[in-house]
Amino acid sequence: MHLQEIKLVNFRKHADLTFVPSDGINLVYGPNGSGKTNILEAVHYCTLAKGFNRSLDRECLSFSADYFLLTSRFSDDRGIEVSVKVSYAKTAEKRIFVNSEELKKFSQLIGRIPCITFSPMELAIVSGSPQERRRFMDNALSQINKRYLDDLLQYRRVLQQRNTLLAVMGDEGTVRNSLEIWTEKLSLLAGSIMSERSRFLSQFLEYFQPVYKQLGLGEMPGFSYCSSIGKHVPETTEEELANAMMHRFKDIEAQEMYRKQTLLGPHRDDIVFLLNGVEVKKYASQGQLRTFLIAVKLALQRFISGMSGEKPLFLLDDLFSELDRKRVEKVLELLDGSGQSIITSTDKKEINCAYSISVEELMQ
Ligand SMILES: Nc1ncnc2c1ncn2[C@@H]1O[C@H](COP(=O)(O)OP(=O)(O)OP(=O)(O)O)[C@@H](O)[C@H]1O
Ligand SMILES: [Mg+2]
Repeated sequence: MHLQEIKLVNFRKHADLTFVPSDGINLVYGPNGSGKTNILEAVHYCTLAKGFNRSLDRECLSFSADYFLLTSRFSDDRGIEVSVKVSYAKTAEKRIFVNSEELKKFSQLIGRIPCITFSPMELAIVSGSPQERRRFMDNALSQINKRYLDDLLQYRRVLQQRNTLLAVMGDEGTVRNSLEIWTEKLSLLAGSIMSERSRFLSQFLEYFQPVYKQLGLGEMPGFSYCSSIGKHVPETTEEELANAMMHRFKDIEAQEMYRKQTLLGPHRDDIVFLLNGVEVKKYASQGQLRTFLIAVKLALQRFISGMSGEKPLFLLDDLFSELDRKRVEKVLELLDGSGQSIITSTDKKEINCAYSISVEELMQ
């Protein structure tokens, strides 16, 4: 998938900017605060329907403007074009149009234009809370597996309903019956989500190990899925997982009634990243954390390519500040020929890339 052109109007710092990247590695450079990340965020909007770091639509609206508009054109690896328009106004909600047709749900955009990111903020995937790792898995899987995305969205709705019920419930029999219905619905969706995540992790590891080695790193990486029901997920079927969930819900019923929330399920699971069998989060150095993350993202690019047959667009924010020169060269080697990438940097690096431009030039 290639971004052919994107036009930003009143988006963050940019009143009017057009960027026409090349198909290979692109470099956008400029001083701090010049609006480089803003450009990547705009591309992110057009591919994944949202900005970076859970930012709100209104935060992306230029300070003095009433609306923002993003207009973009992509072409897939067979040359078929797709246009995406995102608009937002103070007086109207966000709207997204694909090939001039308005999307009813923003989730319809997910997976249409596979896109992955690497940014300093994402270090939390390796070193932060379980929520960050779940988000990583969900984002990756949703782009290649429609059923997963649907199940996940439904799971969130059912979870909310179940929590609402737990919050208001006493001992009345009728409410208890409806809790059971929600528990069953939730367990079935949970079984499917946990089993997909676990399959994803074992497939993903096949892509991850060689990339990690190619980056010149010696340790043996591994992942393990840590489920809140304590089962060894890879050896358990979707149905067994759903049944195990239902049983566990029975065991913790009193606890859930007391805490008034759902205490089990994929919304509480985690991935443990390992190097030579030792947990990365707990023992890795800052440099190891960073290289681990870039390896995760490079492997994800290959994984999505392998699964969908389409090379994802890769947005790399502030790549050079995160890695030493030797590592940067290895990363560039891995990026070369793997599809289109857009890298931002504070200075114009002498790197082997197809196209490089400063933000100042783009703003003229
Ligand atoms: N809604 C907005 N309206 C106008 N300006 C904004 C808005 N949101 C952010 N900015 C401005 O955009 C600038 C930040 O842009 P951006 O993060 O893209 O910079 P950058 O070039 O990536 O910088 P760095 O090299 O430090 O990462 C800030 O000066 C900020 O004030
Ligand atoms: Mg930046």
